[in-house]
Amino acid sequence: MSYNILITGASGYLGVYGNLYALVRTEAQADSVKQYGAKPLTFDTRIAAEVNFIKTLGEVGSRSGRAVHFLHTTGAKVFSSHAGAPTDRPLLDNDPELYNIQKSQRSSHTRIQEAVNANNIVIKEAEKHGVRSYIFSPCIVYGEGEGFGNKISIQTVAIVKAAKALQRVYKVDQGEPSWPVCHIVDNTTLYLQLLRKILAGEDVPHGKNGYYLASSGSIVWEELYTAMAAALAKRNVVGDATVVPALGDEDSQILERIRAALGCPKEFVPVQLGGKCTFTAVHGKEIGWEPEFPPEHILEAADAEVELILKNL
Ligand SMILES: NC(=O)c1ccc[n+]([C@@H]2O[C@H](COP(=O)([O-])OP(=O)(O)OC[C@H]3O[C@@H](n4cnc5c(N)ncnc54)[C@H](OP(=O)(O)O)[C@@H]3O)[C@@H](O)[C@H]2O)c1
Repeated sequence: MSYNILITGASGYLGVYGNLYALVRTEAQADSVKQYGAKPLTFDTRIAAEVNFIKTLGEVGSRSGRAVHFLHTTGAKVFSSHAGAPTDRPLLDNDPELYNIQKSQRSSHTRIQEAVNANNIVIKEAEKHGVRSYIFSPCIVYGEGEGFGNKISIQTVAIVKAAKALQRVYKVDQGEPSWPVCHIVDNTTLYLQLLRKILAGEDVPHGKNGYYLASSGSIVWEELYTAMAAALAKRNVVGDATVVPALGDEDSQILERIRAALGCPKEFVPVQLGGKCTFTAVHGKEIGWEPEFPPEHILEAADAEVELILKNL
C-alpha cells in the first residue's frame, strides 16, 4: 500500500524525509528537497495552521476510508516548570493522565501557554475529525543537523550566544534543575520509528495517549554549562571557565544584556537558558526505539557542540 507523507519544517534542524511532500518557503529550499526525492509544496503555515491540516486530513480519511495521521512537533518546555507542568516527580510520556495534566497547566508566558494549548487543540481536533494524532517532543537536542538546512539546535545555541555577548557563562537558575537531552540522531530515529510503525499499519498509541518524548535521560543544567564554559574558554570566547550565577535584582543589568543577545523579552531569558523539566521518555521504548547516546554524552560532546555552533552562528 502506498502512502503520502507531508513534512513541515523540512529545512529546519530537526527536518527528516521519506517518500514525501515537503513544505518549503523558498525556491532554493524547493531545489534542495528534490535532491532528497521529496516533492516541494510551497506555502506558509501561518496561513494553513494545524487545525486546517487536521480538518483536511479528516476529509482525506473519510473519502479514502483509510486511517490518517497527524504528527505534531512540540517541545519539552511545554512539559516543564515554565509551562506549569508538575516537576515534583518524573512526568512520564505514557502517563494516561498526561492529557488532563496538560489541560490544567497554566503558564505565565503567553508563548508557552499557546504551545500547551496547541497540543491540546491538536488532540481534540484530531479526535473530532477521525485523525490519529501524535505529539512528538524534542528536548535539548545536540549534534550536527544532517539535513540540507539549519545545522544547529536551539538551547545549546542560546548558551553560546549569551556567553559570546557577555564573555562569561551565567546560570539563571537556583538549585540544580535538570532537563532531558537527546542526540540529534536519536531524536530522528524516534521520529522514524513512529513513522515506520504508522506506515506498517500498527495501532501505535495516539490521541490522548500519543505523547512521545525523544530523550535518553536528563542532565543538570549546571553540568552542561560547566562543560560548555570549558569549551568556550579554550577558544577565548569567555575569559575563564567559571559559571557565574545571575539570579537576583542586582543582576538585572546582566540579564538585560543576555536578553539583548538572545533577542527575546527579559522574562523569557530563564525559559531560553534553564528551568526544571522532569518529562521522562517511556513511550519510545515501548514502540521499539532504543537511543544510542546516554544523557551524559552531551557533556562529552560539549566541545564539538561549541565548535559547531561557533562555526554556524
Ligand atoms: N532543536 C531543538 O533542540 C528543539 C527542541 C525542542 C523543540 N523543538 C521544536 O521543534 C520544531 C523544529 O525545530 P528545529 O530545531 O528544526 O527549528 P528550525 O531549525 O528553526 O526550523 C524551523 C523550520 O520551520 C519552518 N517554518 C517556520 N515558520 C514557518 C511558517 N510560518 N511556515 C512554514 N514553515 C515555517 C522553517 O522554514 P524556513 O527554513 O523557511 O525558515 C524551518 O524549516 C520547532 O517547533 C521547535 O520549537 C526543537
